[in-house]
Amino acid sequence: MSGLLIVGAGGFARETAQAVRDTGEFELLGHLDDNPDLHGTEVDGVPVLGGCDLVHELTGARVVICVGNPRDYAARARLVRRFGLPLDRYATVIHPTAAVSSTSRVGPGSVLLAHCVLTAAVQVGAHVAVMPQAVLTHDDVVEDFVTITSGVRLGGGVRLERGAYVGSGALVREGTTVGAWSQIGLGSTVLGDVPPGEVWVGSPARRLRAAEAPALDELATRTTVGGPLR
Ligand SMILES: CC(C)(COP(=O)(O)OP(=O)(O)OC[C@H]1O[C@@H](n2cnc3c(N)ncnc32)[C@H](O)[C@@H]1OP(=O)(O)O)[C@@H](O)C(=O)NCCC(=O)NCCS
Repeated sequence: MSGLLIVGAGGFARETAQAVRDTGEFELLGHLDDNPDLHGTEVDGVPVLGGCDLVHELTGARVVICVGNPRDYAARARLVRRFGLPLDRYATVIHPTAAVSSTSRVGPGSVLLAHCVLTAAVQVGAHVAVMPQAVLTHDDVVEDFVTITSGVRLGGGVRLERGAYVGSGALVREGTTVGAWSQIGLGSTVLGDVPPGEVWVGSPARRLRAAEAPALDELATRTTVGGPLR
């Protein structure tokens, strides 16, 4: 059983820690967080071992990055760039109640929380966060660093480009694309393509404003997913 470090000690990191316990797949070593006030404390009974750069000292441990929130959803991408770790250092955490079809793929560093569903030939890239009860249906492509929050429903053949954020309970019509680093508000209904770098809200969803998150051109390297499944 390999040791696992969870980067971050906030809400998503704590949820991931619970999922890790439920999988029984890893020895959970603890959280890493750059807030020095947390060092030496415990969150939900899990120790905060020290700052994030401990990933470079604890070289035998696998890593999953669990930071970010609706106002800063590029945080995982920034840490991945800062660490520069090889992809095989990153673990994939899939809660045992997640229904992942045998024809679907999930990349390194990604986390699937309880009761999410990947129906058929779904491709999920690296460092993707999928919150409870999200439903991803046939042929969806979810690029690296995407965040899919609880209760999202994606129709078939949807593409979420790199770093996109889909708010709780949003619905995305089949065959549509949400552009890189764009954000969909909670409860919204996306009926057509959303360009990169914009915030869309409502039902039907309309443009609200430009996305704040990225100055992310420098993070716009190729995604790890998108080709035909082999
Ligand atoms: C889309 C979002 C990022 C916009 O945040 P914001 O820029 O701070 O927007 P504001 O709250 O200032 O609202 C601006 C306008 O958009 C509207 N609006 C905001 N979010 C909306 C939504 N999800 N659906 C419909 N309208 C929305 C507001 O009513 C307001 O309209 P008004 O100007 O006519 O009064 C945010 O509302 C959101 O949905 N975040 C996702 C939260 C989430 O899913 N969390 C779950 C995981 S923690």
